[in-house]
Amino acid sequence: QLAYVDGQYLPMAEAMVPVEDRGLQFADSIYEVAAIFDGRLLDWPEHLVRMRRNCAALFISLPQSDAVLSHIARRLIAMARVRDAIIYIQVTRGTARRDHVFAPGLRPRLIMTVRRFDFRQRIPQQAKGVGVTTVPDQRWGRVDIKSTGLLANVLAKQDARAAGSFEAWFTGPDGTVREGGSTNAYIVRGGTLITHPLSAHILPGIARQSLLSLARGAQIPVEERAFHLDEALGADEALLTSTTAPILPVVRIDGLAVGSGRPGPITARLVELVHAEIA
Ligand code: PDD
Repeated sequence: QLAYVDGQYLPMAEAMVPVEDRGLQFADSIYEVAAIFDGRLLDWPEHLVRMRRNCAALFISLPQSDAVLSHIARRLIAMARVRDAIIYIQVTRGTARRDHVFAPGLRPRLIMTVRRFDFRQRIPQQAKGVGVTTVPDQRWGRVDIKSTGLLANVLAKQDARAAGSFEAWFTGPDGTVREGGSTNAYIVRGGTLITHPLSAHILPGIARQSLLSLARGAQIPVEERAFHLDEALGADEALLTSTTAPILPVVRIDGLAVGSGRPGPITARLVELVHAEIA
């Protein structure tokens, strides 16, 4: 468990930020989470692209080049001697005397941490499937930006866990399913994989992007459209994806079985495709 902050590589417990960092005071910051499998950074260029887009959306100009970011990441991974891990990157607007309005010329703060992560913990979840609990989406209107303003996600996931579910599924005022607290959401109906289209209501997941291209490559029809909770409850299969849960079958929604109540054939095929891609 190692951290990089303000140019220094430190044990996690020794890494600190000033109390007036705007990330701390205003959640005025963005983040990325990428996976390291067998010492290899997965989908790293895609994570860098998304991170730069998020910085631009908040008018944060990150001084470090992609080459520098990659160098820091690789050095952390080497120093931490990890094979399977998660790298967390956060860019805050920087430190300033507390004021909602930000002065020009603040120096963004770059933080990276690396922590061992055992992806094998997903194997039993992949075999049995997981449950989700629906919650009204009370997040702000630009959740396509991967900001650290995650309070609504934290509370939703906490509720879901208390209800015995693995994940929370956010529903819009019209009853459509948007995404999970920290994952993207899908259903399968009549052999077609269905997921919410990219919009301000969902985070454009990197695992989502790769799943959709794997599905299309395997001639599994894909529809990017909103689907209603009722449609999800009547679906043949359901699933979720993220960097830390590359693909998991969803077998219960609010305690009700999806399809047979067991992981279905399309999901099983997608699990195989994702594993082949990662390995
Ligand atoms: N979460 N939707 C939300 C709200 C998320 O927070 C995440 C990622 C995703 C999936 O994105 P990706 O496939 O790029 O991981 C979807 C990360 C893992 C987290 O907050 O820990």
